[in-house]
Amino acid sequence: MDIANYLKSVFSLEGKTILISGAAGGIGAAISEGVAKAGAQVALCGRTLSKCEALADKLKAEGCDAAPFLLDVADLDSIHACVDAVTAAYGKIDVLFNVAGINKREGLLDVDEATYDRIMDTNLKGVFFLSQAVAREMYKRRSGNIINIGSHNDEGMLGGCSVYGASKSGVIALTRSMAVEFAQYGIRANAISPGHILTELTQVTWDHPTRGDYLRDRIAMGRPGTPDELVGMAIMLASDASVYMTGQAYHVDGGCLCGGKPWEYDTAYKA
Ligand SMILES: NC(=O)c1ccc[n+]([C@@H]2O[C@H](COP(=O)([O-])OP(=O)(O)OC[C@H]3O[C@@H](n4cnc5c(N)ncnc54)[C@H](O)[C@@H]3O)[C@@H](O)[C@H]2O)c1
Repeated sequence: MDIANYLKSVFSLEGKTILISGAAGGIGAAISEGVAKAGAQVALCGRTLSKCEALADKLKAEGCDAAPFLLDVADLDSIHACVDAVTAAYGKIDVLFNVAGINKREGLLDVDEATYDRIMDTNLKGVFFLSQAVAREMYKRRSGNIINIGSHNDEGMLGGCSVYGASKSGVIALTRSMAVEFAQYGIRANAISPGHILTELTQVTWDHPTRGDYLRDRIAMGRPGTPDELVGMAIMLASDASVYMTGQAYHVDGGCLCGGKPWEYDTAYKA
């Protein structure tokens, strides 16, 4: 067997149907493109259908199998309509990526109930009920795989991200609950926790006069990640290469949780 065929036997997503929420965002689009190029049929789901349509057109032009679907994860009716539509189109859902997420940076003492509810409804309640709806389909086939997007803020907190951090910590707790309850149905659940990734959601932070440098100091590699740098982990978790992995959160963060850039110390070895 040559190398290409061996790698294909380990990581190929051919034959798998993948539903991705927030598919047209920065991280969602990179994961969508990556798993589509690895052979999956991809249901691109989001609340702005035109963006999912444009991404589907781009991927189809590159020879991939992708289709757009309307989904608002903060609306249970929309969740059920989307899962029904994807199941009707493909007959099954093998893998779910919960990518949709929002944030509003605001001090803990300033947050009002409307902001709290909006972030929680999308980031935690949305993941809970979309996963429940998809897992009920997966249960029928006793097979499935759920991959949630956590965050650096599911462990390491930043100022002004209290609701977001709580929602993402909740996503990791939920990932563990899914792993515990769903293994008996042949369903795995894991999370990818990105560090600081440069996307539309975070551009404002990297452009900020002090926050960009604050973050760079807290990343051992000294720079933000790109959405493409999450794709390898996404393909591995979606493929059978990770068949014995469940209930874990994998941090892809350029060396952030480990401590970031070192302070000054004596060494003859200059960078
Ligand atoms: N960018 C980062 O540094 C970073 C770091 C850690 C975690 N994350 C997480 O990664 C995920 C994607 O973030 P991103 O940086 O690509 O942001 P983004 O804003 O580019 O993408 C988010 C996507 O989610 C969609 N979305 C929002 N609310 C929705 C809803 N109610 N229903 C359906 N779709 C909805 C948006 O339309 C958008 O397409 C989020 O869960 C975010 O919390 C991002």
